[in-house]
Amino acid sequence: MIYKRSSALFAEAKKYIPGGVNSPVRAFKAVGGDPIFVKEAKGAYLYDEDGNKLIDYIASWGPMILGHAYEPVITAIIDKAKKGTSFGMPTEIESELAKLAVSMVPNIDKIRFVNSGTEACMSAVRLARGYTGKDKIIKFAGCYHGHSDSFLIQAGSGAVTFGSPNSPGVTQGTAKDTLLAGYNNLEEVNALVNANKGEIAAIIIEPVAGNMGCIVPTDAFIKGLRELCTAERILLIFDEVMTGFRLGKGGAQEALGVAADMVTFGKVIGGGLPVGAFAAKEEIMNHLAPDGPVYQAGTLSGNPLAMSAGLAMLTELNTNPEIFDSLAKKTAFLHEGIGKALEKKGVPHQINRFGSMISVHFTDEPVVDFASSVKGNNERFNTYFHGMLNQGIYLPPSAFESYFLNDALSYADLEETIAAVEKVTF
Ligand SMILES: Cc1ncc(COP(=O)(O)O)c(C=O)c1O
Repeated sequence: MIYKRSSALFAEAKKYIPGGVNSPVRAFKAVGGDPIFVKEAKGAYLYDEDGNKLIDYIASWGPMILGHAYEPVITAIIDKAKKGTSFGMPTEIESELAKLAVSMVPNIDKIRFVNSGTEACMSAVRLARGYTGKDKIIKFAGCYHGHSDSFLIQAGSGAVTFGSPNSPGVTQGTAKDTLLAGYNNLEEVNALVNANKGEIAAIIIEPVAGNMGCIVPTDAFIKGLRELCTAERILLIFDEVMTGFRLGKGGAQEALGVAADMVTFGKVIGGGLPVGAFAAKEEIMNHLAPDGPVYQAGTLSGNPLAMSAGLAMLTELNTNPEIFDSLAKKTAFLHEGIGKALEKKGVPHQINRFGSMISVHFTDEPVVDFASSVKGNNERFNTYFHGMLNQGIYLPPSAFESYFLNDALSYADLEETIAAVEKVTF
């Protein structure tokens, strides 16, 4: 495939935008080569600036669960846009989306809309701190909760000690309140809680992780976290920015059978427009301004265009919940096909999958946490990525990202994808 125009556009973008992109993963740094500039998309396909057609496995990193330019969502946005795009005053549609979201997700009474997943997680943690009167949080190595300072902390060698910043600009003062544990490692969490008795406001987790590839929690781990949080009066925050309205109507809480105290959303809830949200039981949410003292605000929060896209999207998912099963079946089909193709080639790999999230790790050890995910063979991943891209299959351009299937993908698309794996020369 030829990417001349994309490369020229990238060169131009780099003159004015740092790295030529507005979000780093788009720059292809992990896999090498120039990123592809999209012209338009419809259903399961991306059409790039060079006229190539690509089968899309990132779905804008999750939101486009029903495929691109999904008619009811687009119509809702257009109709709304004609009536004005922002007022800075309340609108009825905010309550409509809130009511629907609360009816679909267990254990939440109220929801506050923001503009991104980052804002949602950042605000949820502030509320957790304000509600509990405690400062520290526990997060898991390899889990991403957006780019706010408290979350940009990487696991050092001693997870039971204070975190250290892994991005310049995050102060030690902030880092010291974020404690790190290994995913699927309840003992480490217990040790942190014991070493910081009465000081931990919240444990925040991707209930099915998607930012170190897809990693599924063990039942004992996720249920153990719930028990620990209840016993120690710690709020359990499920970051459902990826999993919310993707793993089922009720997201990971429903899929795993575990109740969270607070839930954050992004991606699907905005139907492809910039929306994030955080939600909890009334008792917790009432601590938020203007009802309570914990401040949080946003000029464009609850924006009518974004709400209309979110409402159209959630309405589709709520009225056609069989979509979740259909997506999970397609993902299982892909899993089996890719697995067989790689086996035939003798390429060591692990495939992790949950619902419509899936990732391929090029290692022969089970991938259960960040430490095991970084053992994957990156060179092999890059060969795989470019080998697939050359055949018109757009996979996440990083070994540490989950694929997000969209329901517009047909079995013929999946078969084409599997056939492409068979043709990659490793
Ligand atoms: C689990 C999770 N939380 C939070 C975020 C941040 O969301 P946003 O990029 O909308 O700020 C992401 C982004 O990918 C995510 O995957």
